[in-house]
Amino acid sequence: VAGKRVLCRVDFNVPLDGTTVTDDTRIRAALPTIESLIERGAKVVLCSHLGRPEGTGYQAEFSLKPVAEYLSKVLGKPVAFAEDTIGESAKATVASLGNGDVCLLENLRFDKREKKNDPEFAKELASLGDIYVNDAFGAAHRAHASTAGVAAFLPAYAGALMTKEVTTLTSMLDKPNHPFVAILGGSKVSDKVAVIDALIDKCDSLIIGGGMCFTFLVAQGYTVGTSLMEQDWVERAAQMLEKAKAQGVSILLPSDVVCADAFANDANTVTCGVDAIPSDMMGLDIGPATTKAYAEAIAGAKTVFWNGPMGVFEMDNFAAGTKAIAEALNECAGTTVVGGGDSAAAARKFDLEANISHISTGGGASLEFLEGKVLPGVACLLDA
Ligand code: 3PG
Repeated sequence: VAGKRVLCRVDFNVPLDGTTVTDDTRIRAALPTIESLIERGAKVVLCSHLGRPEGTGYQAEFSLKPVAEYLSKVLGKPVAFAEDTIGESAKATVASLGNGDVCLLENLRFDKREKKNDPEFAKELASLGDIYVNDAFGAAHRAHASTAGVAAFLPAYAGALMTKEVTTLTSMLDKPNHPFVAILGGSKVSDKVAVIDALIDKCDSLIIGGGMCFTFLVAQGYTVGTSLMEQDWVERAAQMLEKAKAQGVSILLPSDVVCADAFANDANTVTCGVDAIPSDMMGLDIGPATTKAYAEAIAGAKTVFWNGPMGVFEMDNFAAGTKAIAEALNECAGTTVVGGGDSAAAARKFDLEANISHISTGGGASLEFLEGKVLPGVACLLDA
């Protein structure tokens, strides 16, 4: 790569508070690839999306400029910033790079052709590099110009992060050490149906928490008060319970929950069995007996996968269940994998990441990978 322009797609879709990066995990995760390219004398042309702008041009709140400044501090060297993606600024910025220099292009999604995987846009983008490296695992489930289309125009390779994510998730799915315990939480069953189905085929125990547990509890005949519940998915939840039983997979559902009379941290709360949820209250966290049972199941596992919080962990009064799961993962001696998104944020919030084997930078991407889908951002590299 020495002397070559390497167009490197990264996932710098990081949370910002104004112009302050509030979580730099994805930036740090991309450093091995960026630093390796710098050391080997490449001209590094980074590109990314940030958020979901309208695609009608510049929108200040979605600009990647603060990220370029942040990256510059982390790398300890200047990061040139192009004020556009494939326009005059991008061309001039790339042309000004010396060997080992780095630039970041403005948000790819300011141009609506990015998400449409428009071949003309992909070609223009490709003209900014001699080689394409995709290190954006978090966006690999998107068939966009920068994540997939561009690979048709340049020699295309996986970056270090992409490789680590794909190999870790593949080996977890293909040859897990048993017992393999999967933990799924989050609010909706409807979002997780495909991954639940896929995991039932692979794991020995499936632990269910978060808002989606109430749809399963209803499928088991319980009443759940005002808890989040998807009536349209009750039958499907019942089918999944049947499928698990038929395949000898144990499904762990809460035996007790922390209920509140409002969706607020200062709401009145009561902890009760799942057979006694008050009709005017909603479950916002798993209870202590459930937490203990779940932690025990995790402690005995050789492989653990976790996606989705057990309760509303952003509110202190409903964070205990999620924290306990993060603790159990952090203490587990087996291979432990966290599938991005909220559960990764929770592990960070509670400072319980040190012993977790792998925390994916992809939320949606890791779930689609686990569902068995071919990710366009990976497929384009295999095809290249
Ligand atoms: C993510 O945050 O999951 C990725 O960066 C993809 O973002 P998107 O869902 O807006 O495509």
